[in-house]
Amino acid sequence: MSSELPLEQYRERVERALEGWLPAAIKTPQRLHEAMRYAVLGGGKRVRPLLVYLTGEAIGVPAQRLDGPACAAELIHAYSLVHDDLPAMDDDDLRRGRPTCHKAFDEATAILAGDALQVLAFAILAADDEMVPAATQRLKIIRILAEASGPAGMAGGQAIDLAAMGRTMSAAQLETMHRRKTGALIRASVMMAGHSADDPDPAMLAGLETFGESIGLAFQIQDDILDVEGDTETLGKRSQADAALEKPNFPSVVGLAESKERLECLHEKAVAAVGFLGHSAQPLVALSTLLTRRKY
Ligand code: IPE
Ligand code: IPE
Ligand code: MG
Ligand code: MG
Ligand code: MG
Repeated sequence: MSSELPLEQYRERVERALEGWLPAAIKTPQRLHEAMRYAVLGGGKRVRPLLVYLTGEAIGVPAQRLDGPACAAELIHAYSLVHDDLPAMDDDDLRRGRPTCHKAFDEATAILAGDALQVLAFAILAADDEMVPAATQRLKIIRILAEASGPAGMAGGQAIDLAAMGRTMSAAQLETMHRRKTGALIRASVMMAGHSADDPDPAMLAGLETFGESIGLAFQIQDDILDVEGDTETLGKRSQADAALEKPNFPSVVGLAESKERLECLHEKAVAAVGFLGHSAQPLVALSTLLTRRKY
């Protein structure tokens, strides 16, 4: 992904912040700490932190208020990938161009690293002094991330995904699964930034919500398309992984052409939803464009 957006600047920013919150590898228990650091640092597009920062930029929230939410979103994401790759789930060996966490370490360590990354996300939201000053808003942010991660969000979506193995699904069921397993955390990344503004305007939050939900669903549709069209080398993870596990995905259920049409519609919906921001919407529009055109 490349553009005029300050993507590298924000990526470096979240990298430094994550580095600061993760436990040092030399501290005991070293193997757990090494696995946590391995799963988080030095890889990944950092899409969720970028969404936190760029949403903040669009609505005038200073970046230092957003380091906590940006780290928390990426930690939940990293944990979800560690567990998603385990033999009991997608059983993948390659992630971000490297061996998956359970391959580089072992399964028990990968399970614990995922657990520890998940709680670190919430510890940061509870502890970071730089976040929005109002305690009620901090609580709202914690709640947003908790709901996006739990049974109504990512964990629930992953459960539906596992139960769908070897079965057929309607397009509507697939959409529900995608909104939960991937869309919820992307929506939460946008909304945590929205709730970091002083006294956020309900109409502004509603616009951001539609934006986040649209790009959240679009992101998993694109992941499905890339699973079919991409190659392992470029993706940094195994392509054709869904077909190998007989998991329904957008191309297998509605076809490639229709999947791409839906992606484009969701992008247009996302762009329209932040129209109220006028010129300030530009970073969000540019990011949505990049995400829908991405090749990995
Ligand atoms: C992959 O997410 C898994 C999904 C939720 C679709 P990303 O494509 O954001 O993965 P990284 O963080 O860049 O590795
Ligand atoms: C992952 O969906 C969604 C998560 C919540 C981790 P996938 O299983 O399609 O993600 P990849 O393709 O392995 O990255
Ligand atoms: Mg999966
Ligand atoms: Mg997977
Ligand atoms: Mg996938």
